[in-house]
Amino acid sequence: MQMAQRTITVMRGLLKRYGSSKIKMALWDQEFSGTHWDFIDDTAGDCVYAHLEKHLNKGSILDLGCGPGNTANELAASAYTSYVGVDISEAALAKARKRTEENGRSAKNSFACSDFLSYRPSQQFDVILFRESMYHVPLGKVKPILDHFSKHLKDEGAFVVRMSISDGKGGNKQRLQAMVDIIETGFNVLEKSQYGESGPEVIVFRPKRPQR
Ligand SMILES: C[S@@+](CC[C@H](N)C(=O)[O-])C[C@H]1O[C@@H](n2cnc3c(N)ncnc32)[C@H](O)[C@@H]1O
Repeated sequence: MQMAQRTITVMRGLLKRYGSSKIKMALWDQEFSGTHWDFIDDTAGDCVYAHLEKHLNKGSILDLGCGPGNTANELAASAYTSYVGVDISEAALAKARKRTEENGRSAKNSFACSDFLSYRPSQQFDVILFRESMYHVPLGKVKPILDHFSKHLKDEGAFVVRMSISDGKGGNKQRLQAMVDIIETGFNVLEKSQYGESGPEVIVFRPKRPQR
């Protein structure tokens, strides 16, 4: 049973990363239509918020893989002027939109259903966030997708990535460590904070821009 369950989990993980947008959408919608992700519905006080507030400068944020709207609704309303959340799951976005309405944030928050690998924003942002969503980017696409979204960061803007890379045994998961290496090699890292011994890491970075 455990072996069969593990195989299914691994297969789903691979499809969520390498499947077509349609397949990814179906898998995520199935999970968000049930109770699978209910446990992340309240993340008030999460470690990422202080980093966001610092780099937002009361400006704009693009949240890639926004899920059920935690950042859109838990980030202090005074910390930003506009928020765009992108997610591949309409079911997750339905929750995000409902919470936004209930919180009276409809004028500031907007949402788009898209695969972030092909999403083309129509503006530049102060912060572009991957919160617990970078896992679903194929390793070979990490640099290209960050280069693409770099064009949508303001000059003083920053990427914020929150992910748990620890393997829980004192080391780091290889694929996730490789993502961190890509970020550290290709970008200017401004902050790298580890929360707890095997807790999440928050990395803040911006593109290496040519000296003026
Ligand atoms: C673990 S949840 C994190 C949700 C939210 N960022 C948070 O921290 O509360 C990962 C989210 O990424 C979204 N996602 C995964 N792959 C995606 C893709 N290729 N394009 C857009 N969203 C994606 C999922 O639908 C899901 O909502």
